[in-house]
Amino acid sequence: MKDKVVVITGASSGIGLALAYKFGIEGSKLVISGRNMENLMQAEYNLKAKNIQVVSVVGDVANQVDSSLLIQRAIKEYGKLDVLICNAGISMRALVADVDVDVLHKLMDTNFWGTVYACKFALPHILKSQGSIVGVSSIAGFRGLPARAGYSASKFAMHGFLESLRTEVLKKNVHILLACPGFTASNIRNTALVANGSIQGESPLEETKIMTADTVATIIYEGVLKRKRDIIMTSQGKLTVWMNKLLPGLMDKMVFNHFAKEKDSPLR
Ligand SMILES: NC(=O)c1ccc[n+]([C@@H]2O[C@H](COP(=O)([O-])OP(=O)(O)OC[C@H]3O[C@@H](n4cnc5c(N)ncnc54)[C@H](OP(=O)(O)O)[C@@H]3O)[C@@H](O)[C@H]2O)c1
Repeated sequence: MKDKVVVITGASSGIGLALAYKFGIEGSKLVISGRNMENLMQAEYNLKAKNIQVVSVVGDVANQVDSSLLIQRAIKEYGKLDVLICNAGISMRALVADVDVDVLHKLMDTNFWGTVYACKFALPHILKSQGSIVGVSSIAGFRGLPARAGYSASKFAMHGFLESLRTEVLKKNVHILLACPGFTASNIRNTALVANGSIQGESPLEETKIMTADTVATIIYEGVLKRKRDIIMTSQGKLTVWMNKLLPGLMDKMVFNHFAKEKDSPLR
């Protein structure tokens, strides 16, 4: 990955930030993005302190113009684009019965449309470099999760979009990876939206007991090197995907029971 140009959306925190370190330490030239300028500048500063070549672009992936400017900046800065990592994402926790529809729109706008815009603007450059597009998805993209309907829908949509794109570019030597971590320690559950659109503010999980963002970043990095198709990162995730194909009715009950046990679960 030395001297490869890598754009990472949502790289001021969690998995995106860990990806920036991993690719950066391996010699890639980075463009990172996020909405919060202060957090993004801090990330850029810390990456540069490790001698990583990086520029940051403040923007919202749900905004087409911001997404276009992000890709343009990569080309202006480095003259090419080798890897696009569509990582920026948000989550939610609320039942469909209770949730404000705007919350569901926000999930789709960020996780799905954010991926679509970045891919659309990056594609001509990725075709030229015969590079990679990575969608950071989730087990929620294979199995609908209760109280995360907007999140699951956005990840299912990402899968459909990227699978279609992968098939379209089959003969063009472009690599498309769907990377699906399990529960990973990050900020995502703190910033998850609740029924009225406000932020949850805390995680119902013990973040210290789940996979680290660094481990996820290393797995994704290897996946890009080996041009893998899909990666499901945990045995719980693999089992969920497999059982959901074979015994979907049983999985409804198992998934309900799992999420009903979460701290302050809205499932009744
Ligand atoms: N953590 C998990 O358990 C887990 C599991 C499976 C998949 N994932 C996926 O991993 C990806 C990264 O999540 P994470 O867990 O690392 O979460 P995180 O720590 O909350 O980081 C999310 C990043 O995305 C950025 N972001 C959010 N909305 C954005 C927008 N509209 N435009 C631009 N940037 C935006 C955030 O910065 P700003 O807020 O400043 O914009 C932040 O840098 C997501 O796609 C998520 O679905 C996470």
